[in-house]
Amino acid sequence: MSERGTSLLSIEGLTKRFAGLTAVDDIGIEVAEHEFLGIVGPNGAGKTTLFSLIAGEQRPTEGRIVFDGTDITGWPADRVAKAGLVRTFQLMRPFESMNVLENVMIATHQHTPAPHAARHKALDVIERVQLGRYATAMPASLPTAALKRLELARALALDPQVILLDEVLAGLVPAERAPMIELLRTLHGEGLTVMFIEHIMAAVLALSERLLVMHEGAQLALGDPREVTEDPVVVEAYLGEDYA
Ligand SMILES: Nc1ncnc2c1ncn2[C@@H]1O[C@H](COP(=O)(O)OP(=O)(O)O)[C@@H](O)[C@H]1O
Ligand SMILES: [Mg+2]
Repeated sequence: MSERGTSLLSIEGLTKRFAGLTAVDDIGIEVAEHEFLGIVGPNGAGKTTLFSLIAGEQRPTEGRIVFDGTDITGWPADRVAKAGLVRTFQLMRPFESMNVLENVMIATHQHTPAPHAARHKALDVIERVQLGRYATAMPASLPTAALKRLELARALALDPQVILLDEVLAGLVPAERAPMIELLRTLHGEGLTVMFIEHIMAAVLALSERLLVMHEGAQLALGDPREVTEDPVVVEAYLGEDYA
C-alpha cells in the first residue's frame, strides 16, 4: 500500500499517437490516494484516450503508468482492473439480453467465482448505487439516469481502488444531476480515489479537489479548480468568455 501523502497513481510523460495525430501529448500527473481529480477539456482533447491508456485498453506510444508502486504500463485491461484501476464508459454498453443484476454479476463473478457470493455482492453494489428497484429490469427499459448508475455499478463490482469516470453525468437532465453528484460524493467519502471527466462545470467544481485541463492532448493547466477555471489561458481555450 502507498503511504499517506505519496501518490497512488503516477502518470509519467504519457503520449498516444494515432496516424498523424497526437491524441495524448506528454501528460504527467501524480494522483494522491483518495484524491478526487477532475478532468475537463474540449471535445477531442484526449480525455477519453487518457483513460483508455490508464485502464490498459490502449498502449501508450510513450510514457509510464505506475500504480501503487508497480509499473503497469502495457498491462491488459483485465489485469489493470484486478489490480484496482477500473473505468466507466462514456457510451454505456450493458449486455442487452441480461437484466441489471445479471449485468453486474458478470463483473462480480470475475473476482468472486462462487455464484451465490457473486450474486450477493452484485446486489450489494446495486443497492449502493440505489438501483435496487431495477434489479430484475432489462437495460432497454431503463431511464438514462438508471443506465448511468448501472455503468457505475459494473465498475464498482470490480472493487476498484481508483475509478475513472467518463462523463457519468452526460445525458442527465438537471434534476437528475444533483442525486448523481451526491452519490459520487458518497463513494469518494467511502475511500475511492476518483478521476472524473466531465463537461458540466457545476459538477466538476462541486466535486474536484484538483482540476486538470486538457487541450489538444496536452496539459493546459493543473491545480486548484477555482484558480484553474479563472486562468485566462483556460478561459480562452475551453470555457469561453461567457463562463468568465
Ligand atoms: N482509435 C483512434 N484512432 C484514431 N484517432 C483516435 C482514436 N481514438 C481517439 N482518436 C482521436 O484522438 C483525439 C482525442 O479523442 P478523445 O480521447 O476521444 O477526446 P475527448 O474524450 O477529450 O473528447 C480525437 O481527435 C479523436 O478523433
Ligand atoms: Mg471523451
